Amino acid sequence: MSNLIRFGVSIEDDLLIRFDGLINDRGYKNRSEALRDLIRDTLVQAQLGKNDGTEILGSLTLVYDHHTRDLTERLTNVQHDYHELIVSVVHAHISHDDCMEMLMLRGEASRVKLLADTLLSLKGVKHGKLFTTFPAGEITGKSHYHDHKY
Ligand code: NI
Repeated sequence: MSNLIRFGVSIEDDLLIRFDGLINDRGYKNRSEALRDLIRDTLVQAQLGKNDGTEILGSLTLVYDHHTRDLTERLTNVQHDYHELIVSVVHAHISHDDCMEMLMLRGEASRVKLLADTLLSLKGVKHGKLFTTFPAGEITGKSHYHDHKY
């Protein structure tokens, strides 16, 4: 269990005004919670940047035209090749031509990124993005899902 520590920060007034505006737009009630989330995100990004064998969580969103020749079959084949990483898949038919698919992933960082790159680079995939983070216990500090005191 971590302890809460208060610390002072010196910052230019115009920078703080802009920061306050931004966190207000994003719905934060105070600076402390916004700062904690920023610090967590920076730590997570730094750790992810190391690209080692750490276990990560990911969500990959893909938008593609299902009429593209062999695309549906290729998407399925790749997902079977990496089946041990895939926790769940949600598929929605969003228009006559396009499909949106979201994959929940969990596994070794390098493998998760390889799977995402393989799917994103398939011909016919129009847009997509991989979001990555760590299992909650790996993230420094208390979980912000249960910490709204400050
Ligand atoms: Ni579809």
